[in-house]
Amino acid sequence: MDQVASRPPAEAGRTIPVRLEVNGRSHELRLDPRTTLLDALREHLHLTGAKKGCDHGQCGACTVLAGGRRTLSCLTLAVSVRAPVTTIEGLAGDGGALHPMQQAFLDQDAFQCGYCTPGQILSAVACVHEGHAGSDEAIREWMSGNLCRCGAYPHIVAAIRQARPQMKA
Ligand code: FES
Ligand code: FES
Repeated sequence: MDQVASRPPAEAGRTIPVRLEVNGRSHELRLDPRTTLLDALREHLHLTGAKKGCDHGQCGACTVLAGGRRTLSCLTLAVSVRAPVTTIEGLAGDGGALHPMQQAFLDQDAFQCGYCTPGQILSAVACVHEGHAGSDEAIREWMSGNLCRCGAYPHIVAAIRQARPQMKA
């Protein structure tokens, strides 16, 4: 039987209250319960830094941090998120000073089109905090969930290598 045809019909107009804390601000939303965190961020909060690449959990372009952990926002229902969310818009410090990882991506030319970059940077921040950035080999392994169609991988590794000691300081 056709998978799409067998799905229960959508309950048109049904929304539920959802509270999200994003980049230090609390938001009260009413969302269709099927709304992903990615769509909540992009369509409802107009935070378009997180990108919709594959929408299937395979490219990492939608990566945000939830409670400091890497989270694929395209695979996460907004209603299920309890932890504070950080998007690329919230990574810079007070006064707009760039996070060391943002600065390192600039310094190392770690992007071309930039589509994957917000997800790469957030994943890179978590990679360092997880202790998975001890060597180039480890960085490549633990960043392997973030694809870059422009092939900026060597520069991304260099950026993480640059930012790592500054983040530990
Ligand atoms: S858009 Fe989420 S993993 Fe590709
Ligand atoms: S910089 Fe273009 S996809 Fe990564």
